[in-house]
Amino acid sequence: MGKLFVKKPISLLLAEASESEKGLKRTLGAGSLIALGIGAIIGAGLFVRTAAAAGQHAGPAVTISFIIAAIGCALAGLCYAEFASMIPIAGSAYTYSYATMGEFIAWIIGWDLVLEYALGAATVAIGWSQYLNKLLEKVFGPGFAIPYEWSHSPFEISDAGVHGIMNIPAVFILLLLSLLLIRGIEGSAIVNNIIVITKVAIVILLIILGWQFINPANHTPFTIPADAGSVTMHNGKVVNYADFWFHGIPGVLRGAGVVFFAFIGFDAVSTAAQETKNPKRNMPVGILASLAICTVLYILFSYVLTGIAPYQDFLKQGGEASVAYAIDTYMPGYQWLSTFVTVAILAGFSSVILVMLLGQTRVFYSMSNDGLVPKVFSNLHPKFRTPYRSQLLFFVFVSLFAAFVPDSVVGDMTSIGTLFAFVLVCLGVIVMRKTNPDLPRAFKTPAVPFIPILGAIFCLTMIVSLGIENWARLIVWLLIGFAIYFGYSVKNSKARKMNQK
Ligand code: ALA
Repeated sequence: MGKLFVKKPISLLLAEASESEKGLKRTLGAGSLIALGIGAIIGAGLFVRTAAAAGQHAGPAVTISFIIAAIGCALAGLCYAEFASMIPIAGSAYTYSYATMGEFIAWIIGWDLVLEYALGAATVAIGWSQYLNKLLEKVFGPGFAIPYEWSHSPFEISDAGVHGIMNIPAVFILLLLSLLLIRGIEGSAIVNNIIVITKVAIVILLIILGWQFINPANHTPFTIPADAGSVTMHNGKVVNYADFWFHGIPGVLRGAGVVFFAFIGFDAVSTAAQETKNPKRNMPVGILASLAICTVLYILFSYVLTGIAPYQDFLKQGGEASVAYAIDTYMPGYQWLSTFVTVAILAGFSSVILVMLLGQTRVFYSMSNDGLVPKVFSNLHPKFRTPYRSQLLFFVFVSLFAAFVPDSVVGDMTSIGTLFAFVLVCLGVIVMRKTNPDLPRAFKTPAVPFIPILGAIFCLTMIVSLGIENWARLIVWLLIGFAIYFGYSVKNSKARKMNQK
C-alpha cells in the first residue's frame, strides 16, 4: 500500500531537468512563454463557449461567470507558479504531484490532464470547423459550406433535420497541426507569436467597435429569470430555464464552469518548463502575466457580446460561430469586421490546438520516462527531437472525439478534468510546504494555506456546478485510468523499481 504513494525524489527531477541537452531543447524566454500562454488561452472558450454559457445558463451575467472562473484560475495559477518555479521540468501538474503526493495521485493527475489537453484540443477543433464553414459561406456563398453531415458529430441535427455523421474539418486541422509539431517547437513558437498578436488585436477591436452597438435592453435583467420559459436549441436540444442550473445565481455558477474552458491553457505554459531558458524566473512570469491579460479582455468582451445580441439568440441561429453571427446580425456596416474576425479566429484556434497537443505529448513524455505509460510516448525523432510517435497517436485519439462528439460534451469534460487537476495542485502546494519546507522556491504562493484552500474551494464549486452527467464522465474516465495504472504502470514504474533496490 505504501508503494502507492512512492515519490519521485526532487533531486532526481532536477538532475533530469539539467540533462536537457540530451532531451528537449531549451529555446523559450519569458516573452515566448507569455505568447505561448495567450496562444493557449484565448480560443473557443471565448469565441464559442461564452455564447453557450450566456444562452443556456447565465445570460448577460456571464460576465460574472468569467470573474468567478478567473478568481479560481488566479488562485490555482499562484499554486502552479510556485510548483513550476521549484520543479522546472516538463510534465506540469503531473510532475509536481509525483514529487509531492506520490505516484498514485500523480497518475490520477497525468491521466486527468488528458481530458484537459486532448479533449481541449478536440473542443477547439470543433469550434474551428464551425468558423471555417462561416468563412466559406461568407467568401463563396452558402452553397460552398461543407455539408452539415460532414461538419458535425452524429449527435447533432440541423434545423432542416439533417443528422451529422462526422466532423471532417476538425480532423483536418488536427492533422495539420500535429504534423507541424512533429517538425519541432521552435518553428511552432514563431508561428504562435504571429497568431497571438492577431488574436489579441481582434479581441480589442471587437470590444472597441462593438461597444457602440450595445443595447442596454439586452443587459436587463442581468441574470436569466426562472420564468424565462424554454427554448429549442439549433441542434434540437431543449433548454428549460426553470431548471436549477439554468437561471439566476446557479446559472451564473454553471456558466463559470462552462467558461472556465476559456482560461485553460495558462497552465500549459508549465509543461514547457524543460524547453525554457531560466525557468525559475520565466515560468511564474509566463503563467501569471498571460492569465492577467486574458482576464481583462474576457470580462470586457463578454460584456460587449451579450450587449450586442440577446442571450436567447445563442441557442438558435447564433449557436454556431456566435461572434461572426452577432456582428453580421447586429452590427450593420461591419461585414468586413466579421470576415476579418472569422479569419483571425481560425488562426487563433489553431494556436490553441497547437499548445494543447504539445502539452499532451509533453505530459505523456514525462510519464513514459517514469515508466507509467509505454516507451513509445517518449521516443524522440532522431532529427527533430520531438516525441513524434506520441504526437501521431494523440492525433488519432483526439480526432475520434473531434469527429464524433459534440463540442458541448467534450468542452465540459475538458473543464471538469482541468478543474479536478487544479484542486490537486492547490492541495499539493500545502503538502509540499510541509514535506519540503527548505527547497528553494523562486516564486512562493502568498498566504499559504489560505490561497490554496480558497483556490480548491472555487474549483470544487465549479466542478459541482457542471452537473451529474459530467461528474459521471469524470468518474468513468478515472476508472479507466485506474485499470491502466494497476494493469500496467505499477509493474513498470521506475520509482518503484528504485525503491525495491
Ligand atoms: N482556453 C482555450 C480556449 O478557450 C482552451 O480555447
